Amino acid sequence: MTNPSFLRGLAIASLALALAACSNSGDAPAGHSSADRNDGHTSSSSGLPAGNAAAGKKFAETKRPPTNQACVECHGGPEKREPIDPVTPRLAGQYHDYIAHSLQMYRDGDREHSLMSNQAKDLTDQQIADVAAYFNSIDNGKLRDLHGIH
Ligand code: HEC
Repeated sequence: MTNPSFLRGLAIASLALALAACSNSGDAPAGHSSADRNDGHTSSSSGLPAGNAAAGKKFAETKRPPTNQACVECHGGPEKREPIDPVTPRLAGQYHDYIAHSLQMYRDGDREHSLMSNQAKDLTDQQIADVAAYFNSIDNGKLRDLHGIH
């Protein structure tokens, strides 16, 4: 006959083990950039300063090397919302976190694209946060996932 308090003890012990296993999985989520991981960032875009959309607008409209084009010339902005061509993603209304995370990945070499890697290589965390806030603020909320769509 098994002693019920022994069973209770066993249940508590396995719960404690399960909790330890969770808190022990200190690996960064998949897809986090290496520089980010080295800084101890373990969740999407964590550690970025707050973005300033007005500063981001200015930045997004400034022509930059190597192609001497501004972000908005390729990706579209508030006036001309569609990107320059079908391989260039539209950023207006895109989630702040997604934009910031993509730029961190290009900058840190975890996502590569001949054009964008160059665009992003010298961006500061503040510039990334600002430009992400700006594109997110255009048509904010228009980009939706498919929840609730039948
Ligand atoms: C000359 C055109 C051009 C310029 C200028 C440009 N981009 Fe891009 N951008 C692209 C293309 C093309 C892609 C798709 C690359 C890929 O497939 O990885 C892209 C991808 C991106 C993505 C990823 C979007 C996604 O859906 O995954 C972000 C974010 C981004 N660009 C932000 C910027 C910002 C911010 C600037 C200005 C600093 C900028 N881009 C300047 C052409 C451009």
